[in-house]
Amino acid sequence: MREKILEVEKEAREDLARVDSAEELEAFRVAYLGKKGKIPELFRLFGEVPPGSRKEVGAEINRVKEWIESALKESRVSKPAQNREESLFDGTLPGIPPKIGSIHLLQQTIDEITSIYGKMGFEVVEGPEIETEFHNFTALNIPLNHPSRDAFDTFYTTDGQLLRSQTSTVQIRVMQSRKPPLKIVAPGRVYRPDTVDASHSFMFHQIEGLMVDDRVSFSDLKGVLHLFLRELFGSATRVRFRPHFFPFTEPSVEVDIQWGKGWLEILGAGSVDPNVFETVGYDKTRVKGFAFGLGVERIAMLRHGITDIRHFYENDLRFLRQFP
Ligand code: PHE
Repeated sequence: MREKILEVEKEAREDLARVDSAEELEAFRVAYLGKKGKIPELFRLFGEVPPGSRKEVGAEINRVKEWIESALKESRVSKPAQNREESLFDGTLPGIPPKIGSIHLLQQTIDEITSIYGKMGFEVVEGPEIETEFHNFTALNIPLNHPSRDAFDTFYTTDGQLLRSQTSTVQIRVMQSRKPPLKIVAPGRVYRPDTVDASHSFMFHQIEGLMVDDRVSFSDLKGVLHLFLRELFGSATRVRFRPHFFPFTEPSVEVDIQWGKGWLEILGAGSVDPNVFETVGYDKTRVKGFAFGLGVERIAMLRHGITDIRHFYENDLRFLRQFP
């Protein structure tokens, strides 16, 4: 009888070592402790044990039974992750969707504007934000000690470069590297040392436009800007051209749209000044062109009723989520 008990114990150790899932563990429990299991079987054989050995044999069977019980308990505890995975995983539950961002309102506005010009055949180009004095001032017919330089004052780097204060720099870069005809729009950041308030920022966005060909007139400029403003603000939009001064265009205008009872300035524009053509090496007697520049923030603010320019830069999701 003792041998039989030891054999069952040995088998149990071997079987348990092979168990590696919750189902197998349960099958092991049934095989040893279940009604027809090996331990109850030993207790049945117990009836034939002579009275003198009963105490000893009974204790031996109980030892093996208790070992199996505690091994079962530990085994369940030692495989918690596996058990939990099996019991809690529910493949029918909906997934957790990743958070999807959206395009910033300023970029949306830039995309909308450049796509309107795209339909008129203008190509989108970009230029650097760190620029030379030549591209930001000199080549744009803004002489070193001229008062008009103040209007485009900016931040300088220690090595004599600067943060461009207008995207008009891109006019120069494109004309230096290509021959006419040209039809480009150039969106990008510009910098000016303005004190930050509801309508000023030290950094903002502009879109520059430039068209150069052998026969481009001021009325082409008017036509293009009319079309653009009506596309952006609605087909009933009224547009007004006011004489103005820019060093790099002659004649120059500021362009307003009617807004309620009044007029709002939207952009600056003009015919390219022959001095600019000369600087970039174009023959000023043979080419003509127009240029314009507009502020992206201003347009986005007008169209969406935004009253503080700082909202664009603060990354406050309560603001950004209103423009998905
Ligand atoms: N660069 C001018 C500005 O920042 C705008 C402009 C661009 C005016 C092109 C005329 C032609 O105010």
